[in-house]
Amino acid sequence: MALFGRKKLTVGLDVGSGLVKAVVMDHTSGTPELTKVVITPLNDTAIVEGEVMDHAIVADAIRQTLEATGIKTKHIVSAVGGRDVIVKKISIERVKEAQARELMRWEAEQHVPFDMESVELDFQILDPDADGLEMSVLLVAAKRDLVEAKRTLLTDAGAAPFIIDVDAFALHNAFGLNHPDAMSGTVALLNIGHEATNLNILDDGVPILTRDLTVGTRRFREDLQREHGASNDDAETMLRGYDRTLPLDGVVALRGEEIAVGMERAATFLATSTRNFGQIRAVFACGGGARIPGLLPWLSERLRIPVQLANPLAQLRVREGAMEFLSTDEVAPLLMLPVGLALRAAA
Ligand SMILES: Nc1ncnc2c1ncn2[C@@H]1O[C@H](COP(=O)(O)OP(=O)(O)OP(=O)(O)O)[C@@H](O)[C@H]1O
Ligand SMILES: [Mg+2]
Repeated sequence: MALFGRKKLTVGLDVGSGLVKAVVMDHTSGTPELTKVVITPLNDTAIVEGEVMDHAIVADAIRQTLEATGIKTKHIVSAVGGRDVIVKKISIERVKEAQARELMRWEAEQHVPFDMESVELDFQILDPDADGLEMSVLLVAAKRDLVEAKRTLLTDAGAAPFIIDVDAFALHNAFGLNHPDAMSGTVALLNIGHEATNLNILDDGVPILTRDLTVGTRRFREDLQREHGASNDDAETMLRGYDRTLPLDGVVALRGEEIAVGMERAATFLATSTRNFGQIRAVFACGGGARIPGLLPWLSERLRIPVQLANPLAQLRVREGAMEFLSTDEVAPLLMLPVGLALRAAA
């Protein structure tokens, strides 16, 4: 029995290499409502190449972020991602969920290039209501070390209890809710972060490929510092579009090319490995890097398909004051992952 006045609050916690982000979602009414956003910056050396280099600093930033949400009873959802997490769509004989669970280890051995002893597996049946002999399953394998490191970090930050999800799923959930029009045909979701760009390719709403490219706002910023002798802060100001006195074209073309090539490689891979793979018809971009002036138009011209900004708040109820002094337009692109995490309602 639910207690009177009990609230179903979920905190989506995204520990990014540039920013730790928490989003509080109220699920009480059945329709999720975003009630609070907290963002805490990290310095460049705290998390490098996806690895936590300074445990104490990151744990502190997480603690500070959670405290600032101002809520006590917490259902916290965080996630792991990167190259030590593999998401793969497979087909298996149609069985009940419990039986599928038993089959998964065997299936994973055929599909996952990791040592089975060192991974944690999860899965999702994509067509549970269909009836055919086969069913589509999204298989997830994450290296146990990665999941353990995340558990330790969250525990040390006082975040317990928590759930650990997978980045690609959370991104996909937030994206699907806010851009239902993108759930048909083949589209790419690009989350251009501080250190990495997560590329997710969806076919009729099903993630069929997820990859990380090693380019993010940090690279753009370092290029600007080198090219224009800009200070750290000045380069950052330019990347966020507050100072347009210096041209960003060179940097946008250099790093944009890396993103474009990453996308082309992924598309080529899919064309050779997937039956009936068509063209990517559109790209939706989010993450701090999606705000870089000129980057999305440049990518659109280079790839010759529409590239638009994805907005995790487009279809979401946002309580007045949830953002406090943050500017919604500026911050929204950064929130796709934490919103997706927070969409997972407390049981
Ligand atoms: N309003 C903003 N506030 C803070 N940073 C911003 C803003 N707009 C753009 N940025 C840039 O976006 C970066 C953070 O983007 P994002 O939150 O997507 O990355 P992250 O999740 O921390 O990194 P990663 O996913 O690579 O680990 C910042 O480092 C900064 O360069
Ligand atoms: Mg990120």
